[in-house]
Amino acid sequence: MNIIEVRHVWKSYQTKTEKADVLKDINLCVRANEMVAIMGPSGSGKTTLLNLISGIDRADKGEILIEGNSISAMKKSDMALFRRKRLGLVFQDFNLLECFTVRENIILPMALEKKDRHEQESQLNMLSQILCIGDILDKNIPDISGGQKQRVAIARAFVNNPAVIFADEPTGNLDSKSTKDVMHYLAGANDKFGAGVLMVTHDTFAASYCQRVLLLKDGKVLSELQKKGSRKQFFRDILEMLVLIGGEQNDI
Ligand SMILES: Nc1ncnc2c1ncn2[C@@H]1O[C@H](COP(=O)(O)OP(=O)(O)OP(=O)(O)O)[C@@H](O)[C@H]1O
Ligand SMILES: [Mg+2]
Repeated sequence: MNIIEVRHVWKSYQTKTEKADVLKDINLCVRANEMVAIMGPSGSGKTTLLNLISGIDRADKGEILIEGNSISAMKKSDMALFRRKRLGLVFQDFNLLECFTVRENIILPMALEKKDRHEQESQLNMLSQILCIGDILDKNIPDISGGQKQRVAIARAFVNNPAVIFADEPTGNLDSKSTKDVMHYLAGANDKFGAGVLMVTHDTFAASYCQRVLLLKDGKVLSELQKKGSRKQFFRDILEMLVLIGGEQNDI
């Protein structure tokens, strides 16, 4: 089953001098359970696309369905509610509440949904175990590392059992060891909770944890690669695709 369907989506921005088409007839889908990475050069429209699919911004043309619901047709207030209930968001700069503890950051979205105490505790315990953050639950956010912050942000994103997680460069502010940890635990949470994951990344290593990579260039999906063998093999396949389309890895 497709958890996300994007059909013939267009988006342009009007600048002072011209109207620029940023996304041109985008079509894609993400299946339930699937982890998909969007790669592409800076300015190719990755964040714009993620913002449209997560309902933060609106497409000019086309249709976007999440779990069969057309978000293009939703009112702003309905979209906000839908996002809170069915979507999880992970950002490059973590977006945690600095004056709360790790535990409070994770519990807050469940409290907003009025989940009972027992459910909050069991969900917190399960996610702490999967993301390996059980020993930092009472720490304040400024006192934990970048990799730990992102694991907390991932726990928070999964806490209300969303249909899909959107992540915009979730490892962009992390060193290679933390990137490895975060991707390992993100894939673990995806496996356990079964939400689809749509992630934008510049990092081939991070992308290799996904099952599929879409390459965006000049506002179009230029190519698509499906994981066939091991993660290591997929890493090599993605690198090869990036070389074939003519960009150095640093451009991607
Ligand atoms: N609100 C806006 N108003 C005008 N132009 C915009 C706006 N948002 C994005 N753009 C333009 O749309 C294009 C795509 O931007 P976008 O942020 O989606 O790229 P990106 O692929 O995420 O890049 P990066 O890898 O650098 O994050 C860029 O040329 C950008 O300048
Ligand atoms: Mg971006």
